[in-house]
Amino acid sequence: MDTKELVNIAEDMREKAHAPYSGYAVGAALEAKDGRIFTGCNIENASFSATVCAERTAFFKAVSEGAKSFSRIAIAAGPAGKPSAGGAPCGVCRQVMAEFCGPDFEIITVNGGEYETHTLGGLFPCAFSPADLDKQ
Ligand code: THU
Repeated sequence: MDTKELVNIAEDMREKAHAPYSGYAVGAALEAKDGRIFTGCNIENASFSATVCAERTAFFKAVSEGAKSFSRIAIAAGPAGKPSAGGAPCGVCRQVMAEFCGPDFEIITVNGGEYETHTLGGLFPCAFSPADLDKQ
């Protein structure tokens, strides 16, 4: 899939965010190596701690549908109703990515009409991973 198309899906997913507490809407589009696209948005909770980020929503949907190999994720984030403003994934989401993805996994952040491509290895070096448990 064209990168811009993946970015557009992430942008569209911001509309689905349930973010009444922070007012910060995040959308994600995760591309599996088999070509499937899994989407996610942030889903907040009145308890606050039960909130789930858009990236983890996309990963958990994907894994629950049998996908475990991924090439990239596009993330569009920013104050709801305003253009996306380039937020990078939180540390917990980076850890979830490191469970399934190697250092070459691409993380595309969206800033208005522009986007930047990072790698998981660049954003999350020395990750604790399945290899540490001798499971990879
Ligand atoms: N959020 C995400 O969805 N992804 C991130 O990587 C960072 C934060 C969400 C969680 C919460 O709903 C809101 O953004 C503000 O932290």
